[in-house]
Amino acid sequence: MFKINSEYTKLPENYLFSNIAKKVNAFSMANPDKKIIRLGIGDVTQPIAPKIIDSLHKAVDEMGEASTFKGYAPDLGYEFLRSAAAQTDYRDRGCDISDDEIFISDGAKCDSGNIQEIFDRDNKIAICDPVYPVYLDSNVMAGRAGNFNEKTCMFDNVIYMPCLMENGFAPQIPDKTPDIIYLCFPNNPTGATITKKELQKWVDYANEKGSVIIYDAAYEAYISNSDVPHSIYECEGARNCAIELHSFSKNAGFTGLRLGYTVVPKDIKAGGTTLHALWARRHATKYNGAPYIVQRAGAAVYTEEGQRQIKAQVSYYMENARIILEGLKSAGYSVSGGVDAPYIWLKTPDKMTSWEFFDMLLNECNVVGTPGSGFGPSGEGYFRLTAFGSRENTLEAMDRIKNRLSAF
Ligand SMILES: Cc1ncc(COP(=O)(O)O)c(C=O)c1O
Repeated sequence: MFKINSEYTKLPENYLFSNIAKKVNAFSMANPDKKIIRLGIGDVTQPIAPKIIDSLHKAVDEMGEASTFKGYAPDLGYEFLRSAAAQTDYRDRGCDISDDEIFISDGAKCDSGNIQEIFDRDNKIAICDPVYPVYLDSNVMAGRAGNFNEKTCMFDNVIYMPCLMENGFAPQIPDKTPDIIYLCFPNNPTGATITKKELQKWVDYANEKGSVIIYDAAYEAYISNSDVPHSIYECEGARNCAIELHSFSKNAGFTGLRLGYTVVPKDIKAGGTTLHALWARRHATKYNGAPYIVQRAGAAVYTEEGQRQIKAQVSYYMENARIILEGLKSAGYSVSGGVDAPYIWLKTPDKMTSWEFFDMLLNECNVVGTPGSGFGPSGEGYFRLTAFGSRENTLEAMDRIKNRLSAF
């Protein structure tokens, strides 16, 4: 008789998005005349930029000609995309990353879930709380997280780093020493960022302790402040301790196309073995490469026209973020994020729980957001809104909140 991987049974049911859907459906059945505005989604809404669509079309045509047809892609990615990414995202910013340290994939979600495979089961992980759930859940599945404590809603072998208003939503160096540290800046869900000086402290700490940082830069395109680093490799010594995850989803709208990459510098070693060699082996064994046409679309992102067009899209979303941030502040809410990130994180008024606030926002304003408690115990009492909606809906949602749900 087969046995299942019983670690999976330790995962608490994730009711977050199914509960939201249930509540929204019930509300719209009971109130068919009400227009619901969804500011809860972490998915983009702008169509793919024309330069990228052009590239996709050309690549599709190539697939229909014997002379230009492409079969399996190289498992680590096409050279044209690896070099464009290494040049534009790193070397142009003064970061020392070579083309062959870039591993192309179909997105940061898979990579952030899979990367833990190259580490021993006995490593201790540290995560921010609240957190993008993949980092934690993938370690639970691998048997690295210990047991779930129903009372604390925490796994007993995981170091949680609370990110609260009191500490500016920044994780503090933990008392216990982690082997693997997950950091994500700009952050989902809090929209918080980190300065280069603060990030340097994490890099120094990791190098001193022999830890690895897995740095998720999925939202780097939203950074506007010059003291916020776009990459962890802007910090000295990061080549010795940091892996970086990159996505084309939020900067260029590839959530449906699927493309990302992971940077594994050759300098990170344990004994005589490099993480680069292990990840290359893992990639080659379990992955057959992102589609050629999508990698061509990805290369178009790095052209001058592509860069101009995607920056215009990011600006569009960031104007939404500004509208939400200003709207909530003028309605009396304590808010953060939304400056270098498409996420706005608000403190619920009157000590309401995240779900109580969700219900109130839905019922009073017909606006949908995401309860902070869904991202971890320290998210309780907070709420996430996103800038990915249309301008019209964002403006209308803020009008409704200001008129009906002022926190004063
Ligand atoms: C922090 C973070 N990392 C990774 C991802 C996933 O990115 P991708 O679409 O490239 O899989 C998301 C998506 O919401 C995210 O918020």
